Amino acid sequence: MLSIGCLNLIIPWFFKDYLQKQQEDNLKGILYQVEEIVSAYGEGYLSFNELERSITVIDQSANVHICLFNMKNEIIFNSEGGTNSVSLVKQLEKIRNQLTGKEFFCSVIKDPKQPTLDIMLVAINTSTEDIFAVAFIPVADVNEWLTEILRLVWLSSAIVLLITGPILYWLSKHITRPLLDMEKLAKKMSEGDFDCQMETKRQDEIGSLAVTFNQMAMELERIEKYRQEFLANVSHELRTPLTSIRGFVQGLLDGNISPEKTEYYLLRVYSEAERLTYIVNDLLDLARLKAGQVELKREPLDLWTACREVAEGLHLAASQRNISLTCHFSSDKAMIAGDYYRIIQVLVNLLDNAIKFTKPDGQVVISGELADKEWLIHIKDQGSGIAPEDLAKIFDRFYRGTVTGIGGTGLGLAISRLLIEAHGGRITVKRASDTGGSIFTIYLPALQIIYN
Ligand SMILES: Nc1ncnc2c1ncn2[C@@H]1O[C@H](COP(=O)(O)OP(=O)(O)OP(=O)(O)O)[C@@H](O)[C@H]1O
Ligand SMILES: [Mg+2]
Repeated sequence: MLSIGCLNLIIPWFFKDYLQKQQEDNLKGILYQVEEIVSAYGEGYLSFNELERSITVIDQSANVHICLFNMKNEIIFNSEGGTNSVSLVKQLEKIRNQLTGKEFFCSVIKDPKQPTLDIMLVAINTSTEDIFAVAFIPVADVNEWLTEILRLVWLSSAIVLLITGPILYWLSKHITRPLLDMEKLAKKMSEGDFDCQMETKRQDEIGSLAVTFNQMAMELERIEKYRQEFLANVSHELRTPLTSIRGFVQGLLDGNISPEKTEYYLLRVYSEAERLTYIVNDLLDLARLKAGQVELKREPLDLWTACREVAEGLHLAASQRNISLTCHFSSDKAMIAGDYYRIIQVLVNLLDNAIKFTKPDGQVVISGELADKEWLIHIKDQGSGIAPEDLAKIFDRFYRGTVTGIGGTGLGLAISRLLIEAHGGRITVKRASDTGGSIFTIYLPALQIIYN
């Protein structure tokens, strides 16, 4: 609509001058012909009658008015015989004064008969000294052209509107409205309400955008739920040791604890404080690993040596429950590029779990092999195993399964997985078909692959 409005302003402004110039040139061309006829008359080749006839032919075919005046400003020829030309006589002196040599005089003047109308007039001194020729046309004729063009513009605008109207309506219904709905839902989500879904059955781009939007909303809802759970877990984990510490210290302060039991309770306070430190350190570790802020100091290391060192370190814990710890490796060495302390941390957690969950007098076996350019470490225990439905959740933060009283905070496996992934490897778990215990397997790229 705006562009149509602009066209209606621009077109008259542009065409008015253009059309007037055209008309002016047209009148000049006609006067050239008249001038030739008049000079033929002046030189005696034509009689006055012939002059009259010739000029009448021109003015009828060109649809203009032509007048010839003599030096006394008397009309010697008037194509229309109309009064216009007669009234022009009054202005002739002025026009004549402005004519120099054979140049044209062009002007738009008021119609002497009807002052509301304009006349475009072109005049010239002919070569026959005493004859002065004037051709004119009402400016209304020029404006008629303009009106005609504007009428065409309006007509084409109306047709364009008729055609584009339904298209615009369709576009607004099918594109703009779903986008506005989406904007509303996005606003709701920005206020923390993720329970919103776009309803659509469309198969086009808008439909797939709506599907992606719904997936995003679901994912955000899941993350929000996870965040809430994580917060609840963290506060619960921190509150438990804090409550114990508070209770013990309160008892000591109130004098409810006998002096011989004081040391015992102080040791309990100390171990709870230590537990708190572990939890906080694990949480920080986890957060940094998730954010990719942990820098690994990778250097060539032998995995089998690391496994043996960890087994030795946990030997006492295993033997206390009469659990045997054995290592079988398929080669002398298993070189990887790894951060020694981080790899040890993972092995300690897996082996600690294996011992923790294995029944007394059981067996924990660590074995290693090369498969498809990766070193594999299997840690197999004789515990009660992990229920099939729990296998997928075992690496989640704070997941502690159903066995109560044995586990720690449930952060060990989550950290282990992130650490192994940071080394370009992965961890899997399955149920041992023979013993019913668990088999954890770590996959790490062999060293030559990394440097190739
Ligand atoms: N070898 C295993 N046999 C049976 N269950 C296991 C085994 N290893 C882990 N789990 C289950 O997975 C849970 C998570 O283990 P994870 O090592 O992450 O935590 P945790 O040992 O309980 O505590 P943390 O390692 O943080 O001190 C355990 O609580 C346990 O239920
Ligand atoms: Mg653990």
